[in-house]
Amino acid sequence: MQPSWWQTGVIYQIYPRSFLDTNGDGIGDLPGITKKLDYLQWLGVDILWLSPIFPSPMADFGYDISNYCDIDPLFGTLQELDVLVEQAHRRGLKLVLDFVPNHTSDEHPWFQESRSSRENEKRDWYIWHDPAPDGGPPNNWTSFFGGSAWELDAQTGQYYLHMFDVKQPDLNWHNPQVRQAMYDVLRFWLDRGIDGFRVDVLWLLMKDEQLRDNPINPDWRPGDLPEQRQFRLYNEDQPGVHAIVREMRSVLDTYGERVLIGEIYLPIERLVHYYGESLDEAHLPFNFQLFSLPGWEAAILRQVIDTYESLLPAGAWPNWVLSNHDRPRIATRIGKAQARVAQMLLLTLRGTPTCYYGDELGMENVLVPLEMIHDPQGKEYPALSRDHARTPMQWDTSANAGFSSSHVTPWLPVSEDYRTNNVSVSRKNIRSFLMFTRTLIELRRLLPALKLGSYQSIEQDNPSCFVYQRGYQKERYLVVLNLSDEKQVLSLTGKGRVLLTTYMDFEGTRDLAELYLRGNEGLLIEIL
Ligand code: GLC
Repeated sequence: MQPSWWQTGVIYQIYPRSFLDTNGDGIGDLPGITKKLDYLQWLGVDILWLSPIFPSPMADFGYDISNYCDIDPLFGTLQELDVLVEQAHRRGLKLVLDFVPNHTSDEHPWFQESRSSRENEKRDWYIWHDPAPDGGPPNNWTSFFGGSAWELDAQTGQYYLHMFDVKQPDLNWHNPQVRQAMYDVLRFWLDRGIDGFRVDVLWLLMKDEQLRDNPINPDWRPGDLPEQRQFRLYNEDQPGVHAIVREMRSVLDTYGERVLIGEIYLPIERLVHYYGESLDEAHLPFNFQLFSLPGWEAAILRQVIDTYESLLPAGAWPNWVLSNHDRPRIATRIGKAQARVAQMLLLTLRGTPTCYYGDELGMENVLVPLEMIHDPQGKEYPALSRDHARTPMQWDTSANAGFSSSHVTPWLPVSEDYRTNNVSVSRKNIRSFLMFTRTLIELRRLLPALKLGSYQSIEQDNPSCFVYQRGYQKERYLVVLNLSDEKQVLSLTGKGRVLLTTYMDFEGTRDLAELYLRGNEGLLIEIL
């Protein structure tokens, strides 16, 4: 079987607000993305996923949609999206949009109708319920952003459910009209040539119809994520969700080779069910395990990766994500030197990798002062603000890092290191993080073993290093990662030729029986 483009390609996530501002309002836009397509092609990525670009009051920066079938004027127009699609396709790049089916904005006409009266025909499009006997919320469910997930609507005397911000009411997916309306949204974009969707919070779509209370997590401590406060027994991963995923998939399948990617934060044993029993659900249920490792250690990585490999259903295609717009950047989580090692891991593992914009430079979190925090989660819990990982892309040494013209204040501050860490400077430095990322992507494209081959972790004695082999037909490659900042020596077998090191400085033949690695070094080795 010929592999599909979503199996062989590298996904690149663009947060449109922060990519490139071409109209001088401090916010990135669609023409900005079109302008940077040559850069993305040069970098070597294949699939661009855009975070939401639809009309929105921006309470959650586009994840609160007031019209699913248009573009927010902040980002541009439908025509400008058509140009982007056409220009991307001309370069062999695919374009994936964010689909946000769990909730709309409270300013969406559907919700406006729904809240207008208990008798309105769209009342049942959302999840409304009478107050508890004491007048409080119908049950104990909490929002991901903190506090009760219920909001009282004074006019009609009922509560509506919002698993996120109060301005993001949850749709009622038990209602067949809601399903049809949302599948029409998919068709609208597929007809316009969109190559697929990343589906927001896919595992949350169905809720218990009896609205039973969730059990409380006894181990939760202040400082932990608010979303960990209770076990979401009754409002996530409900049995009925799989029928919906199959329905979405069947809409896509009528359009040929399109991709369905699911945002799903679940333990791995439950995540893999989202491939579907007959592989008829998500092509790629996002695998976020690299976000939640108990430590950046060889034994942990090996265990997580081997377990995932062993639990994948037959024929299911793996995928790996290192960072996104909801989590701290990888270079901040493990340090910039280890971020190169992580990049080598991401781009040499088996399965489709997802790179977050700016991570190709090793961009770091930017501390956004309290009074400038935009993120609704950050307003509630400043330490958990997601703004830190959403700052403007660093293009060059000019004011605002080339993101916005010089007289403009970008919507979030530009990182202070932009004069030394930006695309323009990095392209001239053959050892830069950017050139390292680009070389890795190129090797992944050139070597069938990396793109399509088998994965096998290798037993060896050095606990600071993680080693695995990728193989395809007669070709064998070793990836050797030193997860410490100290020199290490390993004893493997045979002879090998180093194709790439994280230091970007040394290639050549090595005796694997006594293999030395510098601190924070990763090696890609062809076995001879
Ligand atoms: C997803 C998005 C996140 C958003 C939330 C609600 O987790 O990635 O940014 O806040 O859904 O839509």
